[in-house]
Amino acid sequence: MRTLIVYTTRHGTTESVAHYLADWLPGDVDLLNLTARPTQCELARYDTVVIGSSIHIGRIPARLSAFMDHHLDELLTKRIGLYLCCMNEASAETQFDDAFPLALRRHAIACATVGGEFHFDRMTIAERLIVRAVSGVKENTSRVDYDAINRFARMISEIGENAGEISSAEEQG
Ligand SMILES: Cc1cc2nc3c(=O)[nH]c(=O)nc-3n(C[C@H](O)[C@H](O)[C@H](O)COP(=O)(O)O)c2cc1C
Repeated sequence: MRTLIVYTTRHGTTESVAHYLADWLPGDVDLLNLTARPTQCELARYDTVVIGSSIHIGRIPARLSAFMDHHLDELLTKRIGLYLCCMNEASAETQFDDAFPLALRRHAIACATVGGEFHFDRMTIAERLIVRAVSGVKENTSRVDYDAINRFARMISEIGENAGEISSAEEQG
């Protein structure tokens, strides 16, 4: 199994989750931070692609949407995992559905909302004001759901292993 974890991040949470996942997933795992390097990427090398994003004011970064639009046909030939970092638990599922295209969600072998973090020390003044006004939270807070991440990693690993068994059985005839 060869996996690419492609993600965007503003204050580091989606990136931490990507690194945590990379340690859990079997086989070779590469990481691509689209926030830092909005490059073309060679998806052909990977059988599994995990896409991670966070939500800011109800939206995912335009760069990640553009990546999914641009590569949609090829992504639909891969095993896909989708995860979303967000702090509004009540609307997590709706936000997840708005974040990822329907075709990818239907095709994905694993989907998860994994909580999030507020890093006030990394926010701009405007971001601090928004977060305080909307959530009432005033200090650094971590609500990353590691149980959800572990379940997500297990789903991808198990399906990856089964797919390996199936393809080697097919190769043997
Ligand atoms: C300015 C700002 C706006 C946010 N808006 C939302 C939101 O609309 N819905 C939500 O569930 N979480 C929201 N969040 C929480 C982020 O999704 C959460 O902090 C996440 O962990 C950020 O991950 P990142 O650092 O990888 O970008 C917001 C956070 C900030 C700082």
